[in-house]
Amino acid sequence: MFRRLPEPRARAVHFTFEGEALTAHSGDSVAAALLGAGIGHSRTTPRSGTARAPYCMMGVCFECLIEIDGVANRQGCLVEVRDGMTVRRQQGAPGLPEDLADEGGK
Ligand code: FES
Repeated sequence: MFRRLPEPRARAVHFTFEGEALTAHSGDSVAAALLGAGIGHSRTTPRSGTARAPYCMMGVCFECLIEIDGVANRQGCLVEVRDGMTVRRQQGAPGLPEDLADEGGK
């Protein structure tokens, strides 16, 4: 879906997603790195388990919530990927009470 433009000065950054070794470019956000690696979704919704992926890429929509180095609810589009980072798909809404985890009151 996404294709990288040539970045001759970019340094390779190595991280894992769901235990899989991936390579990104220095300066990539975690969300951009995952999209560039062809990862289809980075979280599931709390109620229905629907797959979601980053959308706005600028910190507004919260569709990119993800677990980074064991910390849930990080905005992947606002965190720069680093060597050795461990990234996991966020399942539901960890740390939120059931009533707050509701999707838009549905
Ligand atoms: S992609 Fe919208 S807040 Fe991160």
